[in-house]
Amino acid sequence: MGIVDKNDLTPNSLKHIAIIMDGNGRWASKRSMSRLKGHEQGAKAVREAIKGCRELCIPFLTLFAFSSENWKRPDEEVNHLMGLFRYFIKRELNELKAAGVKINFIGNISMLPDDVQELIETARLQTEGNTDLVLTIALSYGGQAEIVNSAKKLAEMVLSGEMALDDINETSLAAGLETDGIPDPDIVLRTSGEKRLSNFLLWQSAYSELIFQDVLWPDFRRENLEIAIEEYYSRCRRYGAVSA
Ligand code: IPE
Ligand code: IPE
Ligand code: MG
Repeated sequence: MGIVDKNDLTPNSLKHIAIIMDGNGRWASKRSMSRLKGHEQGAKAVREAIKGCRELCIPFLTLFAFSSENWKRPDEEVNHLMGLFRYFIKRELNELKAAGVKINFIGNISMLPDDVQELIETARLQTEGNTDLVLTIALSYGGQAEIVNSAKKLAEMVLSGEMALDDINETSLAAGLETDGIPDPDIVLRTSGEKRLSNFLLWQSAYSELIFQDVLWPDFRRENLEIAIEEYYSRCRRYGAVSA
């Protein structure tokens, strides 16, 4: 996509936070509420995360909102989530646009209801000139499928003679991912105490710092973001080499 030239950014700075927003259901269960209420409260935490990243001048934020496996949930929950995505985009678009946020989506968007697909396209088009914060929303997203799709594109090019087999490498495979143009996440943060990636950014997180917080997503506030950032700066990223 070529949104921002990765090389323009200082190598050690924190450029990209990716968040697995987990724990909406448990937040609701603890209060004897339906899981749907948990998702509604979760939408408020999304606003906090976006605002926090803008204020802290972090140029890329990626939010895992719905996985390719979340289609397995009961119809009522899936429909409610689709309604929330609809409501969220409609309600927030103007403000995000004015705030300089570029809204981007990854995932199998064709699985979503037609009107949600249209809203996504509108949000994408209306904010494409913005550069302050690139907000990527992963919807119906699965990291394994994303890698398979990139591999298929490369295989087709090799079969048609456009590309040599030896040109399949880390760079060409990454270029076929939906995140092309976005730097790999420096932090992958998961809330709710679960310690797994659940098919999120599998290729891109090869050298991400993984941070797990016990907070349930609806309770996530700017303070949690700041704690994660502090933890990130206390880590030593070696990329397989030895420390200086
Ligand atoms: C995350 O919260 C939101 C989505 C996956 C859409 P969950 O709904 O997974 O909440 P828990 O994990 O059941 O508490
Ligand atoms: C991952 O959470 C997906 C999102 C947060 C959108 P899940 O709640 O679906 O993950 P599992 O099932 O606990 O691994
Ligand atoms: Mg969950």
